[in-house]
Amino acid sequence: MEQESYPISLEGNKEVIVINRRSFFGALLAIGTAGMGAFLAVPVLRYILYPLYAKISGNDWSDVGKIEDFSGSTSPVRKTITFAQRDGWREVVSAQSVYVNRLADDQFEVLSAICPHLGCSVSWQPAQNEFVCPCHGGRFAPNGKHISGPPPRGMDTLPTRVQDGKLQVHFEFFRSNVPNKEQLS
Ligand code: FES
Repeated sequence: MEQESYPISLEGNKEVIVINRRSFFGALLAIGTAGMGAFLAVPVLRYILYPLYAKISGNDWSDVGKIEDFSGSTSPVRKTITFAQRDGWREVVSAQSVYVNRLADDQFEVLSAICPHLGCSVSWQPAQNEFVCPCHGGRFAPNGKHISGPPPRGMDTLPTRVQDGKLQVHFEFFRSNVPNKEQLS
């Protein structure tokens, strides 16, 4: 079949560009394919990059215990809580230790047991009436205030609420070894 062609002559007849029907439709097909590829790449890219913008922490509240469990407590009470945590594309259930201080009948302060220095687990020492970190000897008052040692700030407090007679906490992670509490997200 004879091809229709469209000769274009430039001044002086030095160069001639010929666009025939086949090359025109070829270019159209290439543009369409590139457009479709870009369109399909968006959800794939979003899936691949999801862990970069997904939150590290879960959004759930975790049960710490019934309010009456803390009614007679006069010093920090250690509890282990569980919460869902997103790790890349997976959702895993994590366990963390927290310390509960009862401030009033239904008012509580919950401290993360993660040392704000380099992340070791802080433990309550009743004989000394203070928290001690076993890694580098950081010491904290019962309310988490920094007493001595290398930690640059006090123990991190966590958001709490009372729901259906239970104390709940929203576990969060904070940046280590910085003077102010910075939540990691
Ligand atoms: S990690 Fe706790 S004092 Fe260093």
